[in-house]
Amino acid sequence: MFLLLENKIYVNYNQLKEVIILLSKLELSKNFLKNNNILNCIYCNELLVFKNNEISCINNHNFNIKRNGSIFLIKNNNYKISKFYNKDLFIKRRHFILNHYYDDINKYINNFIKINCNNGTILDIGCGEGSHTHLITSDLSEFNIYGIDYSKDAIDLATDYMCKNTYFLVGDVNNLPFKNHSIDIVIDYLSPFNTENINKILKKDGYFIKVIPTSNYLIELRKIYNLKEYDNKFNNIDGYVIIENKVFEKKYNICDKLDKDYLLSNTPLTWNIIDKNKNIDSITISLNVLILRKKYTT
Ligand SMILES: C[S@@+](CC[C@H](N)C(=O)[O-])C[C@H]1O[C@@H](n2cnc3c(N)ncnc32)[C@H](O)[C@@H]1O
Repeated sequence: MFLLLENKIYVNYNQLKEVIILLSKLELSKNFLKNNNILNCIYCNELLVFKNNEISCINNHNFNIKRNGSIFLIKNNNYKISKFYNKDLFIKRRHFILNHYYDDINKYINNFIKINCNNGTILDIGCGEGSHTHLITSDLSEFNIYGIDYSKDAIDLATDYMCKNTYFLVGDVNNLPFKNHSIDIVIDYLSPFNTENINKILKKDGYFIKVIPTSNYLIELRKIYNLKEYDNKFNNIDGYVIIENKVFEKKYNICDKLDKDYLLSNTPLTWNIIDKNKNIDSITISLNVLILRKKYTT
């Protein structure tokens, strides 16, 4: 069996499978972009509209849709690739997240959304490789979900979770390419954020769900490597009320070799450590989930 596509003949089963997956991601993303018009141009802030294989604004700024369906919405001359946030890190992080360490936190956020909102648009800022986005939102079929991250490697992986109502793009939290007041819920899971940008894109009574580490988060690693305690300070943001404030803390035994490897080499805590030949048997996941609601002003 062979397939002729873009003047190339595919005969290998794995290549064929890859092409079929790419085609389906592309189709899903085109449909998503056709039906949802809330992305704004990063150059002139005008609305981006789907046209053939790209999205464009009235000032002719055009952005190609990649073969995996994602788009790149960062001003090119500003883009710097991170030496740490790379494919290797995101593959290991995905493995770690899918090993259930964060399940109760993700379930809690999912429940909060189900109880408090019927539909709308959710944006996960700094979504990484998309596993948390997926675990929190996969049964929220009445919502449109966007994940945005600065890393191209992260977004390439996140496109695995692309589906009818979920879309991933490369973008910067400091220049969020969304229409004013178009988002009902912003999720920020261990990632940087920019208050001014959140204010701009969030609806008047929208929710901002912020997941931050407590001082016990990954404490075992800090002990092994003699690192300072995490200084966890989050002040409420002007114009918001904190409506939920809950800490999730659990200690897990670590048996999986890849999980050990991820912790000892790839978390931001260990990036600058040279001697990584240590062993780790347990890890504490301790995160604070804060749910803020924007005060409604007329
Ligand atoms: C600690 S990771 C968390 C990723 C994901 N939320 C998770 O918990 O797996 C921080 C993420 O923020 C992203 N990031 C850093 N600076 C960013 C920026 N200016 N705009 C968008 N994403 C950014 C990184 O690429 C990385 O994926």
